[in-house]
Amino acid sequence: MTAAIKPLSSEKVEIIADLYEAFSKKRMSLIDVTWVQHQYHEKRRWSAVEFLNQVNFANLSKTDMVCVWNAGRAELTTKPGADRLARQSDAECRRWLDTDADLAAVFQACGTWSRYWNEEESFHETTLNVLAGGLGMEAVSDDTFIEFRKIFPDDNMLRTLFLLAISEITATVNYSRCAANTSDPGLRAIFKQIAADEAQHMRYFISFAKALVDSGKYHAKDAFAIAHLFLREDGELHGSDRNRIETRDTHVNWWDHLDTGDIERPDDIEGKQNMIFSALEKVTGIRVASPEEVEDAWMEMVA
Ligand SMILES: [Fe+2]
Ligand SMILES: [Fe+2]
Repeated sequence: MTAAIKPLSSEKVEIIADLYEAFSKKRMSLIDVTWVQHQYHEKRRWSAVEFLNQVNFANLSKTDMVCVWNAGRAELTTKPGADRLARQSDAECRRWLDTDADLAAVFQACGTWSRYWNEEESFHETTLNVLAGGLGMEAVSDDTFIEFRKIFPDDNMLRTLFLLAISEITATVNYSRCAANTSDPGLRAIFKQIAADEAQHMRYFISFAKALVDSGKYHAKDAFAIAHLFLREDGELHGSDRNRIETRDTHVNWWDHLDTGDIERPDDIEGKQNMIFSALEKVTGIRVASPEEVEDAWMEMVA
């Protein structure tokens, strides 16, 4: 028996913020949750062809071109992340099935949602790379394409989900800054649309990460560890602006390697930090307001 929420109109559909509770207390089924995911995805679809037709190529500045070219490359690395999420979520689902069926359902919902995430990211990747090509910028070679599809190494699922939430925060702010910076209405519409998608992805990752913490099977310290990794001095939040960037041969993180030449890329580090504090609070219930407070809270939890 399920006392399910069955939205009648997609206008009212929202991301389920308390997913563990939706399964454990509201007794929603995976079919119910998938229907919510599907409607939410469907109501936010857009046409890459129509958006591209609105761009006035002659209008674009050098900064616009740098934003488009780098973002196109960064987006190529999203598919391996979504593929990994699908595989890892299913493995975790089966690991919990006998001991916490509601947590198993959370993981299956996460793996199921990864198909919508993957599809939405495909719009970003193709739109931006086609646009860069149309502007006559250096094309993505097949070797680069294949290199950028390398799959990230596996990690603890709460760490993975919180890292993905931060990646979406980074993308949301980057696209919002690019949108604010351009004078072309067509390109602004593309950046704003992609930023809106990234913000929704962030909300999904926060919801999945919160469900893991709510289950009592995952510890908040793992979310704090990832936040600290990004927020510490010279941390990952500074991307390619850092003094020291680790070399990896496992996968590509283009945000670490942005190639902007002598153009200053629009950014908002403080905005990103504040969104990470807010994400930490939603996932763990613990409020922090500075990188130092994140480090202190993390050290305390580890101790
Ligand atoms: Fe994206
Ligand atoms: Fe995204």
